[in-house]
Amino acid sequence: MEKFEIKTSIRFGEGALESLREIEGNKIFIVTDPFMVKSGMIEMVTRHLAGKQYKVFDEVEPDPSVELVTKGVKELLEFEPDAAVALGGGSAIDEAKAILHFAGRMGKLPRIGLTAIPTTSGTGSEVTSFAVITDRDKGVKYPLVDASLLPECAILDVDLVKTVPQSVVADTGMDVLTHALEAYVSVRANAFTDALAEKAVVTVFKYLVRSFKDGDDREAREQMHDASCMAGLAFDRTSLGLNHAIAHNIGGKLGVPHGRTNAILLPYVIEFNAELGDFGKKEFNRAAEKYAVLAELVGVGSGNVRAGVKNLIRLIRRMQAQMKMPGSFKECGIIPDKYREAEDDIAKGALLDQCIVTNPRVVTKEDVVEILKKTYHGQHQSS
Ligand SMILES: NC(=O)c1ccc[n+]([C@@H]2O[C@H](COP(=O)([O-])OP(=O)(O)OC[C@H]3O[C@@H](n4cnc5c(N)ncnc54)[C@H](O)[C@@H]3O)[C@@H](O)[C@H]2O)c1
Ligand SMILES: [Fe+2]
Repeated sequence: MEKFEIKTSIRFGEGALESLREIEGNKIFIVTDPFMVKSGMIEMVTRHLAGKQYKVFDEVEPDPSVELVTKGVKELLEFEPDAAVALGGGSAIDEAKAILHFAGRMGKLPRIGLTAIPTTSGTGSEVTSFAVITDRDKGVKYPLVDASLLPECAILDVDLVKTVPQSVVADTGMDVLTHALEAYVSVRANAFTDALAEKAVVTVFKYLVRSFKDGDDREAREQMHDASCMAGLAFDRTSLGLNHAIAHNIGGKLGVPHGRTNAILLPYVIEFNAELGDFGKKEFNRAAEKYAVLAELVGVGSGNVRAGVKNLIRLIRRMQAQMKMPGSFKECGIIPDKYREAEDDIAKGALLDQCIVTNPRVVTKEDVVEILKKTYHGQHQSS
């Protein structure tokens, strides 16, 4: 038997932020990043908390660290809130989830609910039981996975993503695509997660470049915001795969933003998973067949699995080029010695990452090293 449940209540569309008034309790702990306070965007949230007492923890930095979570736990315990709100990108939402998780484990505060309000369209963290925390000393990102991390409520408001700068739109949008693709070929995929992943993939190809080009394109930004959440719902059930397993280890060591790392890896991981082999090959694995289905859905299919997979990869690379994204880690400014030095640890770490378990193809350390060598220079072998 399989089960499909959505525990988080999702509010979207006109007036969605008004549901903040439904939060029970009088003391609200708000976790956010400094930009939300400086830009005044936080007032879009606090104006719905009239009559309540709130404390703003606004120190979130991209890729929250273990130390920051420890600091947040201390402030949360001092304030003793009745509920928590996270406002920001994946970093703010993950920080809030981790703070609540560790405070709960210390047993010093009754379990409190989290309302997650994403201001980027990328991680889907508002509906997932994952939180990614970075150990800066070891250079490793740890995905925490626990059902208790699931937010009680997610609020999607397009007005909060209007200000996202182009580079962040590109990075986070490619994160959405990677989530959807990894969920689609995961060994845990099912008909329901496939429906969400397919919708997310089609939406990204239709709207991401539009959203990148024009922050005032409300339809494109809204569609991407919804797609991000749908991809999150899919991968929360299926988990992810090799792409994220490597990205979690590169991100911590080389400091390249999460979505950008995923985007660089994506064509190579698809190629690896699809095992296209020689031209004479007639039988393809399940992942290759599923990538080819997606190629059909986004209008680049050809009735042939090999051509479908290759066309899908080409389309991804074209979209990256349209958004002027780097196609290699070299282009991100990583110096060769630093990369070579990190290679072995990245490969070992990727094989230990929880996401590797659901990858459709079994992976060895040599496979990861080969992908890392290709992604440094970005010479894509298959096209
Ligand atoms: N929990 C999950 O399921 C999950 C999934 C994937 C990734 N992640 C993690 O999420 C983090 C990345 O999150 P992200 O990609 O959303 O980026 P982010 O939260 O790190 O934000 C990136 C930058 O964008 C800025 N920003 C955010 N919203 C903005 C807005 N509306 N206008 C202008 N600027 C804005 C932030 O201030 C920050 O400088 C990584 O640590 C990654 O590992 C978590
Ligand atoms: Fe991601």
